[in-house]
Amino acid sequence: MAAFAAQLSMAAPKALPAQQLRASYRSSFRAGAAPARRGAVKTVSAVASDADEIVLLEKMLKIAKERKSKEAEAPAAGGADGEYDGKGFTIKTYNAISPVGLNKYPKGKYRVSGDDAALPAPAMAVMLRSQKLQVEDIPATVRGIVRCGAGTNNIPVKEMTERGIPVFNTPGANANAVKELVVCGLLLASRGIIEGNYHVNNVINKEEGGDYEKISKRIEADKAMFGGLEIEGKTIGVIGLGAIGSKVVTAALGLGMKVIGYDPVLSLDAALQLPGDRMTRVTELDDLFEASDFITVHVPYIKGVTHHLINSEALAKCKPGVHLLNFARGEIIDGAAVRSGYDNNTLTGKYISDFSDPDLMGHPRHIVLPHLGASTEEAEENSAAMAATTMMDFLETGTIRNSVNFPTTILAPQKNSSGARLCIVNRNEPGALGEITTFLGSKGLNISQQINTSRGDIAYTVIDFTNQPEDADSLQADLAATCSFIISLRFLGMVFDDELGEPGTFFYVSWAQ
Ligand SMILES: NC(=O)c1ccc[n+]([C@@H]2O[C@H](COP(=O)([O-])OP(=O)(O)OC[C@H]3O[C@@H](n4cnc5c(N)ncnc54)[C@H](O)[C@@H]3O)[C@@H](O)[C@H]2O)c1
Repeated sequence: MAAFAAQLSMAAPKALPAQQLRASYRSSFRAGAAPARRGAVKTVSAVASDADEIVLLEKMLKIAKERKSKEAEAPAAGGADGEYDGKGFTIKTYNAISPVGLNKYPKGKYRVSGDDAALPAPAMAVMLRSQKLQVEDIPATVRGIVRCGAGTNNIPVKEMTERGIPVFNTPGANANAVKELVVCGLLLASRGIIEGNYHVNNVINKEEGGDYEKISKRIEADKAMFGGLEIEGKTIGVIGLGAIGSKVVTAALGLGMKVIGYDPVLSLDAALQLPGDRMTRVTELDDLFEASDFITVHVPYIKGVTHHLINSEALAKCKPGVHLLNFARGEIIDGAAVRSGYDNNTLTGKYISDFSDPDLMGHPRHIVLPHLGASTEEAEENSAAMAATTMMDFLETGTIRNSVNFPTTILAPQKNSSGARLCIVNRNEPGALGEITTFLGSKGLNISQQINTSRGDIAYTVIDFTNQPEDADSLQADLAATCSFIISLRFLGMVFDDELGEPGTFFYVSWAQ
């Protein structure tokens, strides 16, 4: 191991050489993919000359231009007329969203476009990826916004909350993609893969002057410098057992590792994804630090909570050879503390991450990758599909799941009901629900079931009636006039069963009056 460590610091690169940077890697592991598809297999090619580099750059420019113009086009999903003859839902899209998601919207019932002019009516919902949304981009007709992805910092969430508009995301849709990179990280840590590859390309190849006979002998002779350890039987500590962490747990068990998990705020849903007694759960991080050969973090970055969760105190409790994996956020691991561990030789393991760290850039024990965790076609498709399903559920039933600003609210539709459903967003004030139900009773509406939830300043109520209002539009106007705390009202047009969820004829928003 000592020889290996010495070789690492000697041979490993500060930065990859230009020729290697120019190498173009593109592959797809999808079985049966047609060769011409996006992501189809291409051979690995190293570009040798400046002329080749210009050709490559021109190609990249062409691809970027094509992508931009695709984004500007109106996505053509959900646009064709189908069997449905009711009033349709309208969705405005931004960015090039995967057709896997767009095709979830039933044709006819949904009109989906990136171009306002192509929609038959103003947008009722917005679906986007990375578009930086401005408050003025959101017309008063919009009931919800969904982002294909986890982060929502491109959306003015606070202002949308004030307007009573739920913002949704797609947590966990990229979990498998990240898990697979973590598995790769385990192997990069346990074996001298990157270091060995660098040695072959940049040391052996150069020193042997491209003589293949000599190169193949050196490849055999030098392998001892890059020997590693197997991961089977080793212990991995998984910090954060949510969508990604739970998948890492299962994968690690599959690789024959012992697993210790830590997550003091585990949700019930996440707990159900864990493989029960095949892993050990600890309530003290120190227990995980002391026992782990690998530590991987899968917690959100929260200032003051998960900032530098792994710092010098934590590292002092770890085994000296512990390998750290960080595919969550750079700031969760204190790079300066890791650096000092490397410098004074109290830490001899590697640090693998898809985030860079100013204290570790170029250090041979820090294998840093581009931010690749979620960068797979499948993750993009899963996010788009989940976003579409979440939005349809909200528009058609009022259900709120995966919202970053509204409470989770699910009221299962009743079988054989001929009543209407009313969704109300209001400021969370005492007595609000009582006022609403009193008003509805006075109008002869009989409530069969209801749910009332709140999150911060916002309350959300979904009410089912046994009957239909005679005039839904004026009823909503009267209710809004009576209850000043109401922000928006939305009748779901028709009865339940198969008819559930035509858009109501009238949509009230107080802030746009
Ligand atoms: N590298 C990438 O490309 C990439 C892609 C997606 C997500 N991520 C990162 O991965 C993180 C985890 O993603 P996820 O989808 O699993 O999220 P998640 O919300 O499903 O899981 C996070 C888990 O962390 C737990 N947790 C919160 N605070 C904790 C603490 N102080 N100690 C221990 N556990 C704590 C939560 O209870 C939850 O179970 C995200 O926050 C994001 O920063 C990175």
